[in-house]
Amino acid sequence: MISFDNPGLSTLTTPRQVMLGDGAAAKLADLLKGWQVQPGRVLLVADREVAKLGLIDAVKGPLAAGGYEAGVFDAIVGEPLLETAVELTRFAREQACGAVIGVGGGSAMDMAKLAAALAANSGEVKDYLGIVTFPRPPLPLALVPTTAGTGAEATSVSMLSVEGRKAIVLSPQLIPLAAVLDPVLTRSLPPRVTAATGLDALSHACEAYMSVRATPFTDSYALTATGIIARWLKPAYDDGTNMEARRAMLFAAYLGGVCLNAGVVVGHSVAYTIANRTRTPHGISCTMALPYTILFNRAARPERLKALAEVALQSPAATAVDLALWVDELNAVLGMPRSLNEIGIPAAGLDEMVEECLKRYPRPTNPVELNRERLKPLYEAMHAGDVRGFARTCGNG
Ligand SMILES: [Fe+2]
Repeated sequence: MISFDNPGLSTLTTPRQVMLGDGAAAKLADLLKGWQVQPGRVLLVADREVAKLGLIDAVKGPLAAGGYEAGVFDAIVGEPLLETAVELTRFAREQACGAVIGVGGGSAMDMAKLAAALAANSGEVKDYLGIVTFPRPPLPLALVPTTAGTGAEATSVSMLSVEGRKAIVLSPQLIPLAAVLDPVLTRSLPPRVTAATGLDALSHACEAYMSVRATPFTDSYALTATGIIARWLKPAYDDGTNMEARRAMLFAAYLGGVCLNAGVVVGHSVAYTIANRTRTPHGISCTMALPYTILFNRAARPERLKALAEVALQSPAATAVDLALWVDELNAVLGMPRSLNEIGIPAAGLDEMVEECLKRYPRPTNPVELNRERLKPLYEAMHAGDVRGFARTCGNG
């Protein structure tokens, strides 16, 4: 179901060029030439882990053959800190490069966005926190994801940690000129990372579809991504060398990234409160929250959640409750934790999580207004892992 009932303006920002195919990363030099980037120095920003695995060689070698010498910054470990961004900015400005290429997961790609913008502008990283306009356009930027999940290759945001708190730099200027989707680079992802990142992509698609900022553009991407992930995540998890599944998941993760034009809803807020207490990876905390998010918004989005259920379960009879149970079952099949209790969060800490969710991660995009009375039962059900019980009692409208 793609709705056209909103007479307002719908806009979509996406990379100017997207490539998908085995070995696509080897085409970067051709891509740069197409943008009139003169042969010479380019900056390559990568995760340390990606560099260790040798994945950047798939990018560096062909770039060199095309006349582009890559200066490599591979100090990205986990969630990027402000200090890392400052160090990267200094490095990027020293390089005098003609383009920036980010290779890795969401963190490396986010940092590459910042590097492209700050290499072309003066000032410090701290000057650009929040929603910003850069006086000068960023350097040409290409992003090459090595996980199929975050969708950062399609978004206008860069996330970093400033003094222990999440901060963002948000600007349409941060969207890359190109997203290069090379499934070969995701082939060596272990099953657990395949699952966690793929489930993050599923959360982006499902949450964007519930958002009050959903548009016909994001609706079409969200439905397609959900259908692909329902079909291909399990095969990719079972056999990482199944390239058809890898291609499908990398494509779906990109679509999920584009869905973020509509924003996400309460599930991502709940996920952040989990992340602040445990070392649960982002995708896992998101997918744990997803069944409850679906039920929480069911009464406000009945037709949409029915449509999403039909796509995910491939059945015209499927309902929103079926969808929530399906996500919970998928989590079980993929070995994900399914309750807050299971990941060591005490029941006594739930009130504090509710408060934090409301205060730090309010979600005006959620179709049901968040408040204490509504969130507490969600957290309680999630603590017990009781999706069925929440389906019986949650009647938010
Ligand atoms: Fe996410």
